[in-house]
Amino acid sequence: MSDDPELRVSKIRNGTVIDHIPGGQALNVLAIIGIDGTSGEEVSVAMNIPSDRLGKKDIVKVEGRELSQNEVDVLSLIAPAATINIVREFDVAEKHRVERPGRVQGVLECPNRNCITTESEPVDSAFEVLDDGVRCEYCDTIIREDIAAHILVS
Ligand code: CTP
Ligand code: ZN
Repeated sequence: MSDDPELRVSKIRNGTVIDHIPGGQALNVLAIIGIDGTSGEEVSVAMNIPSDRLGKKDIVKVEGRELSQNEVDVLSLIAPAATINIVREFDVAEKHRVERPGRVQGVLECPNRNCITTESEPVDSAFEVLDDGVRCEYCDTIIREDIAAHILVS
């Protein structure tokens, strides 16, 4: 592609490119995959790039990292159209669309202080994934806004 707008951020050698993130969500994606820059990872972020499919999209490129299934599951909640590209020696070796799981376990914290999952008992949180949010399976609390703020995984 001659005028590839994605090449405003250079290609990576080995690592993961998360593409087709809704415009403005890249920083939440970084929070989900536990990157705040302090551990020295090589990370490139492009935000609000024109996209045919999404209007505007963000891209996150992380050198030397692959994502865990938990991270991909949570990612799917804020970036349902995201593509995960695994890059090896500059080539895209694998490309996956994220899939919205039916439930996510142990990755989000229930905002209800009285929920059994937030007390000292060793009960893993579990949320059912709805079209417009997630519902705690223990106390029925629904999180619709800012799901990224409730993430436990890093
Ligand atoms: N990419 C990268 N470094 C590489 C190879 C690819 O940063 N060594 C990036 C590309 O810039 C692009 C994404 O990874 O943002 C996917 O690459 P590719 O599959 O080649 O692009 P498209 O065909 O445009 O992807 P799609 O069909 O998923 O939109
Ligand atoms: Zn709860």
